[in-house]
Amino acid sequence: MTSRLLTIDKRKRAPAPWWTRAVVYQVYARSFRDCDGDGIGDLRGVLRQVDYLAELGVDAVWLSPVYRSPQDDNGYDISDYQDIDPLFGTLGGLDQLIAALHERGIKLLMDLVVNHTSDEHPWFAESRSSADNPRRDWYWWRPARAGMEPGTPGAEPTNWGSLFSGPAWQYDTATGEYYLHLFSGKQPDLNWENPTVRRAIYAMMRWWLDRGVDGFRMDVINFISKDVRADGSLPDGPVSGLSGPYGDPGKGTINGPRVHEFLQEMHREVFAGRRDALLLVGETPGATVEDGLLFSDPRRGELDMVFTFEHVSLDQGPGGKFDHTPLDLRDLKATLGRWQAGLRDAGWNALYWDNHDQPRIVSRFGDDGAWRRESATMLATILHLHRGTPYVYQGEELGMTNAHFTSFDCYRDIESLRHVAQSRERGSLSDDQILAGLAAASRDNARTPVQWDASPNAGFTTGTPWIAVNPNYRLINAEAERADPASVFHYYRRLIALRHQDPVVQLGDFTMLLPEHPYVYAFTRRLDGTRLLVLGNFSGSDQTVGLAGHLDSGAELVIGNYPEPAQPLDGSVTVRPWEALVLRVTHPW
Ligand code: NOJ
Repeated sequence: MTSRLLTIDKRKRAPAPWWTRAVVYQVYARSFRDCDGDGIGDLRGVLRQVDYLAELGVDAVWLSPVYRSPQDDNGYDISDYQDIDPLFGTLGGLDQLIAALHERGIKLLMDLVVNHTSDEHPWFAESRSSADNPRRDWYWWRPARAGMEPGTPGAEPTNWGSLFSGPAWQYDTATGEYYLHLFSGKQPDLNWENPTVRRAIYAMMRWWLDRGVDGFRMDVINFISKDVRADGSLPDGPVSGLSGPYGDPGKGTINGPRVHEFLQEMHREVFAGRRDALLLVGETPGATVEDGLLFSDPRRGELDMVFTFEHVSLDQGPGGKFDHTPLDLRDLKATLGRWQAGLRDAGWNALYWDNHDQPRIVSRFGDDGAWRRESATMLATILHLHRGTPYVYQGEELGMTNAHFTSFDCYRDIESLRHVAQSRERGSLSDDQILAGLAAASRDNARTPVQWDASPNAGFTTGTPWIAVNPNYRLINAEAERADPASVFHYYRRLIALRHQDPVVQLGDFTMLLPEHPYVYAFTRRLDGTRLLVLGNFSGSDQTVGLAGHLDSGAELVIGNYPEPAQPLDGSVTVRPWEALVLRVTHPW
């Protein structure tokens, strides 16, 4: 008891960073709003919607990559870090967007993709041009495996598979060597071992901060240090049914030996002296809670928070991402509860359900049919009431659903298309099985255009959209949502306002309740004498739960997603289908 009181006391004295009170909104510009009629969203489209973002109440925008890019991976393959792709606009247009957001008190975070560049980046063009080019060592070039004929199957320097299917090494006939690409062959990995590479990246980052951006979302930032041996070789990875015939590159590439050293150096070189108003969030697939603490403990000077992947991997079967299996709510509670506990005293959580790589949460963990509004708002309540900074992905605040595509030609995403090709080549799955996997897990579920209104193409474009608009746009769209006070949109507004106002939501301690209940997610948040009790029903039927000691008759409703909230009775409460409830209990202690 004493130590808890001390912790609370310490927290009261230390001024909490602004992002403990903030909600971040992710814009995937390609699918946000198109203003020039080419069917692809652009910066003018984002500019046009800044008042919408202000109405929602978000504090910062994370803008997915709009840099110059051949668009092999929709901009996560950058050929010029200091220019905007003409598809999206110009540098002047970005300046205008920054100014318009700042005028409304909204910050802008750029996506920083520095584990790899495009193969069309001039750095790579030089590196590839000859084995003795000064930029050769900016990327990972390696000869064929000893004793093997270069360019033949199995001669790759390691057995690693790429995250987008196929081998992680591309043979280059010009010099007879291979380069590493953990993602597509058009995304060669930069060699962070080389200090000149690091210096070039830091200079670029300072240039963006000088231009007025307020921080970065750092793409796969825990992949930047590879486990390279003294002789320059890299280790093979274990081969499993899942990765075969390739080896898993994880051990040699994720959370590598120098990752913390590199991030601390970046902090000193880029953020020192101007860091307080900024936000640095790392994307860290494969990071454990212990890693998350190392990355986000402020005393270490690395990042402010990281995105965990553990909770979005719980509905994957043994066959991996596209082998969908139903979520067991107990696993979700155990996972998120572990992250809450692990970052209780230091570090910070980035909270998310959706982003441009994940299926839509209402279709994934909710019910996007009869209970769409209730389940979307219940899921939002659970997420936003955790301790951490919530991220909202465009359209999530409208309760947008998965694409429900039924044919291969609807898909655009490189990861999905590679998966189809590889599965067909292996012949282990029928086309129907492959389509079912894509329908559940494809990244394109999140990438259909934002549904603005009921006009053709949901008001996204006057041209032909680059990916089909979800036909449910006539019912689900921003105009309809804004007009309905009981909508998902207005519920998100209330949740965002609650985080701005309520210190318990911002900083309260988190305690998970009912860890073994299969359908009800329950926890408390506590700060000083105030406790919030949060309940969410992850099912389409009534659930009665006993919470003696946590409920009292004087509890005040903070927010709920039914017009008449469930009433606690004798230490128990019955929550209705997909109901969410937040109650405030004030203790005399
Ligand atoms: C993570 C990004 O979120 C994803 O969209 C991208 O394909 C990979 N990193 C590679 O940059």
